[in-house]
Amino acid sequence: MEEYDESSAAFYDYYATGLEGELEFYVEEARQAGGPVLELGCGTGRILIPVAQAEVPVTGLDQSEAMLKVARHKISFCDDQVQERIELIQGDMGDFSLGKRFKLIIIPFRSFLHLLTPEDQRHALNCIREHLLDDGKLVFNIFDPNLDMIAGHFGAVGTALKHQTEFVHPATDRRVIVWDTRRYEREHQMIDQYWVFEELDDDGQVVSKRYSRMTLRYVFRYEMQHLLELCGFHIEALLGDFNKGPYQHGGEQIWVARRS
Ligand SMILES: C[S@@+](CC[C@H](N)C(=O)[O-])C[C@H]1O[C@@H](n2cnc3c(N)ncnc32)[C@H](O)[C@@H]1O
Repeated sequence: MEEYDESSAAFYDYYATGLEGELEFYVEEARQAGGPVLELGCGTGRILIPVAQAEVPVTGLDQSEAMLKVARHKISFCDDQVQERIELIQGDMGDFSLGKRFKLIIIPFRSFLHLLTPEDQRHALNCIREHLLDDGKLVFNIFDPNLDMIAGHFGAVGTALKHQTEFVHPATDRRVIVWDTRRYEREHQMIDQYWVFEELDDDGQVVSKRYSRMTLRYVFRYEMQHLLELCGFHIEALLGDFNKGPYQHGGEQIWVARRS
């Protein structure tokens, strides 16, 4: 069971619908930059395609072939001009070299947290800096670790299985319920998250079950500030939501930084 494998990629757009205002925020950033834009961890193109539809040339980089396959399929239904503005590359945001620099690099929907060690985080930020034009901007969001939530869970025992969302199965039209459970490893600032996808028939019987997992490393506010400064970024703003509200503990960290 790999992260972002075929089965979770097939369901991704149905259960991972993003954060309020996130899509509009990144599209507006891209519009202001005018391109070229690089999205790291572009996944199924949830943000990337609307950026291209806003007439901004965009490159998407993602590690998962399964996620890129879904993105390619969606892009094939777009207008020719939109398709021409998009380039997809399979690669690791922790170590990439594209031979090109960008006006804007974005990492939406907390994908930076997939970098699991300080070395990977620094490598990624160094690569990002190398790929930014002199006046280029880095904009990304991660969740702010909620200390109350983390304090309540420790060790081998995970949280209770919780109903997260549900959707209609794209192929069978059946109801799919998504449950999730997570385990915090506080020493390493890690979260192991597991999802269970249950597909139900009309009588409520489970007819199929899929599991998916991922590991994230959560990052505290000043840790992120130090990382950015260490890797040669000047911080322009830390926002707390996509309406540009202030940072608040347990909410979102939305970072806006430039090459210094
Ligand atoms: C939460 S999804 C976000 C997808 C998309 N940006 C969105 O907003 O819907 C995280 C994505 O990051 C990708 N990813 C994880 N680690 C990565 C890495 N080291 N390099 C490149 N992509 C990575 C995953 O394959 C996945 O597609």
